[in-house]
Amino acid sequence: MATLLTNIGELLTNDPGVGEGSPVGRLRDAALVVEDGRVAWVGSAARAPDADERHDLDGAAVVPGFVDSHTHLIFAGERSDEFEARMAGARYDGGGIARTVEATRAASTQELREASARRLRELRAGGVTTVEVKSGYALDTEGEARLVDLAGEITGEVTFLGAHVVPREFAGRRQDYVELVAGEMMARCASAKWTDVFCDEGAFDLDEARAVLVAARAAGHGLRLHANQIADIGAVGLAVEMDCASVDHCTHVNDEDLERLAASDTVATLLPGAEFCTRSPYPSARRFLDAGVTVALATDCNPGTSYVTSMSFVIALAVREMGMSVDEALWAATRGGAAALRREDVGRLTVGARADLAVLDAPRAAHLAYRPGANLVSCVWIGDLGVVTTSVVNS
Ligand code: NIG
Ligand code: FE
Repeated sequence: MATLLTNIGELLTNDPGVGEGSPVGRLRDAALVVEDGRVAWVGSAARAPDADERHDLDGAAVVPGFVDSHTHLIFAGERSDEFEARMAGARYDGGGIARTVEATRAASTQELREASARRLRELRAGGVTTVEVKSGYALDTEGEARLVDLAGEITGEVTFLGAHVVPREFAGRRQDYVELVAGEMMARCASAKWTDVFCDEGAFDLDEARAVLVAARAAGHGLRLHANQIADIGAVGLAVEMDCASVDHCTHVNDEDLERLAASDTVATLLPGAEFCTRSPYPSARRFLDAGVTVALATDCNPGTSYVTSMSFVIALAVREMGMSVDEALWAATRGGAAALRREDVGRLTVGARADLAVLDAPRAAHLAYRPGANLVSCVWIGDLGVVTTSVVNS
């Protein structure tokens, strides 16, 4: 069945070949046809073909669904007390992860499933149509496997993060834990698509992270890295050396790192929700873009550093605090996220791509940054599922 969405005031396709030639591929007074969950036609509303079903969007803006390429969606409990302490001057050092590990280990599978489903609904209501979900709050073999399985109920973009931090019971035996992660735990979590490591001060050092990534590659996983959030210990260089799909946070980077990234296939995923919630300095996205680095934006949804499920909030921060133009931020939240997951079929509204899109209660996509705090996503369409949620349903 073919469905025509017409009278779109502004359509961002992320196809540089249409519109005025910008990377976001902007069309005005546009229409789009969806067939079998894919985009079948895009163009001017005046030239739209017939379809079995027709929706007049009354001048609303439409953007590709957001690709949230970095979340820790599955956890129990909350850590608002740490947030309050940070707002009063405390520094984030990763220490609170152990509290979430304790709460997550103690939670039933059904409790974790329901808590994650609530957060997923929030993400979707805000326009997210593709989401990556990490394990990392169990840090023992069966617990990590449980989180990987739960993540697999939500998405195909499942990431094994057994190397989040060294759990308390391995204090003084770091090497044993690295061997467990790279060996038995990795094998038990083989169904994940990706492996990630928190390579930073207070987490894993370069050699430890490299050992886990080498094992992950041998297990057939794609690679990702948490890097340079707390300090620059050289982790961006490791991400490039290992051809990670994405290196995430990059709060602290040097010029050599930017040159390395620009010459690589590794995307820099910036997570301004984390700087907001930890009161850390925002990295300048401008520096990355001017150096020629591909940039993605993601929520980093987690209870410690970024309990954020709104991609429009992330976009607004990137524009206001990190020097991105609105178009650059919109691209980074859609095509950039897709590139960070090495996906060609999402993050764009071009013929053949998945028909994943968000309809806005606004005439221009810029309202996502211009009107922070309001959820302007009135309708989310995901491929062959069709309309999956609206902000009204979610309220
Ligand atoms: O991406 N930095 C490491 N992991 C998470 C935070 C985890 C936590 O504090 O619970 C992050 O910021
Ligand atoms: Fe993270």
